[in-house]
Amino acid sequence: MDLQLSGRTAVVTGAGRGIGLATVAALANEGMRVVAAARTVTPELKELAAVAVSVDLSTTDGPERLIRTAVAELGELDLLVNNVGGGDGGAVGGFLSFDDDQWAQIYGLNLFAAVRTTRAALPSLLRRRGVVLNVSSNGARIPHAGPIPYTTAKAALTAFGKALAEEVGPQGVRVNTVSPGPVRTAMWESPDGYGAELAAALGLTREQLVAGLPATMGMTTGRLVEPAEVAALIAYLASPLAASTTGADHIIDGGAVKTA
Ligand SMILES: NC(=O)c1ccc[n+]([C@@H]2O[C@H](COP(=O)([O-])OP(=O)(O)OC[C@H]3O[C@@H](n4cnc5c(N)ncnc54)[C@H](OP(=O)(O)O)[C@@H]3O)[C@@H](O)[C@H]2O)c1
Repeated sequence: MDLQLSGRTAVVTGAGRGIGLATVAALANEGMRVVAAARTVTPELKELAAVAVSVDLSTTDGPERLIRTAVAELGELDLLVNNVGGGDGGAVGGFLSFDDDQWAQIYGLNLFAAVRTTRAALPSLLRRRGVVLNVSSNGARIPHAGPIPYTTAKAALTAFGKALAEEVGPQGVRVNTVSPGPVRTAMWESPDGYGAELAAALGLTREQLVAGLPATMGMTTGRLVEPAEVAALIAYLASPLAASTTGADHIIDGGAVKTA
């Protein structure tokens, strides 16, 4: 299937590894020119992206700097993938374990980075009748299943996408959300990631936690989602073939969310 993306331009955030890197690979494979950002420009990212930008997107000015660079390098933008999110750790615990600074940090990365990057990119996306894709989480629908600041920030991100889709849809810009369940990335696989912290809090090894995750989360497929599977969904939604899909939230979680 030709996704008709060849020659178009894209910005992908949080792209050094995991879902973001897989998305850059999928879009570049479709012939898109991609500007991709993370704090660390990994060798894999450098190889795949047209331009890799090192930027902290949790800062107030980072997103605007990224979009300024992207427009200077690519010209107008056809696609923005707001993928950056998660966190740098320390997000394991109940409601009372999070102070104001942690709430602000988690909302900064999981909500405000997307708000600020979208605000900077929207004038160009409007000129190109482009697409915004936000990477949320199935935790937005099952907010007890993860750290409260994270799942509620993702719920706000999902709502942000819906509201923006209504506002800019008549001007030709589509906005969609992709909401993964557990994906096999550093979040679960790294020895100092969220999975390792959660395992320690539960008195398990990280390997035990990850092996039990599909059952614990009710994943009907019995395995974690692969980053390339999320990237393939993002590439389809970016395509003109998905021209009638806007304001939608696409869950990709192996069947973990049980409601219709
Ligand atoms: N993995 C899952 O199970 C899962 C499930 C549901 C939703 N999600 C969502 O999917 C998205 C991607 O997750 P992932 O698992 O692929 O993450 P990941 O493997 O941890 O990768 C995150 C990427 O974002 C970059 N990043 C982190 N903080 C940044 C910052 N302040 N500024 C710029 N870049 C930053 C990281 O590089 P640097 O650290 O070098 O900056 C890295 O390249 C996130 O929004 C996450 O919430 C993931």
